[in-house]
Amino acid sequence: MKRIDAAKWIRHFLANRRKRPEPDWELPITLAPPVVRKLLPSLEQFQLGDGGGPASLIARDAEAYRNSSEETRTIVDLWFAEEREHSRLLGQAVRRFNGKRIESHWSFTAFCACRRVIGVAAELQILLLTELVSTAYYRVLRRHVDDAAVKQMCCLILRDEAGHVAFHRDRLAAAEAVPGVIWLLQFWVCGYAAATMLWANHGPCLCAVGGSRAEYYHEVRFEISRFVRRLLRNSMGSTRNVFPTSPIAAGQSA
Ligand SMILES: [Fe+2]
Ligand SMILES: [Fe+2]
Repeated sequence: MKRIDAAKWIRHFLANRRKRPEPDWELPITLAPPVVRKLLPSLEQFQLGDGGGPASLIARDAEAYRNSSEETRTIVDLWFAEEREHSRLLGQAVRRFNGKRIESHWSFTAFCACRRVIGVAAELQILLLTELVSTAYYRVLRRHVDDAAVKQMCCLILRDEAGHVAFHRDRLAAAEAVPGVIWLLQFWVCGYAAATMLWANHGPCLCAVGGSRAEYYHEVRFEISRFVRRLLRNSMGSTRNVFPTSPIAAGQSA
């Protein structure tokens, strides 16, 4: 079986810690109060959901996966360290707008409960899809929000998430089989389900800053299709067996 280049990913995560200018949280706030009222609950929920909860794999067999090799443990820990950093940045944004740290939200409780009962391969897919649809959210937010500090925060998070998504692609491409039609179908369906969950909670915020539902779903489609296209290309580079019917063995090869 092809294996991912673990050393490359460890180097990536260590290098990504450098040159991270802190957003200028002290800049004057120019957003209108009604916009802040819609933006703040979204930032508060993201502070909890993007690295603010149990920033680790929590599936019932997660430890076996994490401890499958020293490299896997290191990569998973470095990945989640970046997620904790996202929560810290979002916490700064929440403070900037005089918000409060929330400790729970129904959507995050359901998200974690779901991750706990499934296996680690499914948990990794859920996290990947969350990263893809969150990328769509942060991109729309960065494009429209009239606040330099929040834009700077989005830049840092988007930079990290691009690395996380690329890591997942490497991990999946290293599995034995090329993703099959059934796998691709469930990936798109689950991706749209994740996107819709996010929109239900954060759509009002994106609309308040000037974004739209169509723009958000355009970004979601772009992210998922680019991920799938690159995954297929990478997978086909390692095998000629195109479109087998079995799902790929996510989580077996990081
Ligand atoms: Fe994140
Ligand atoms: Fe991430």
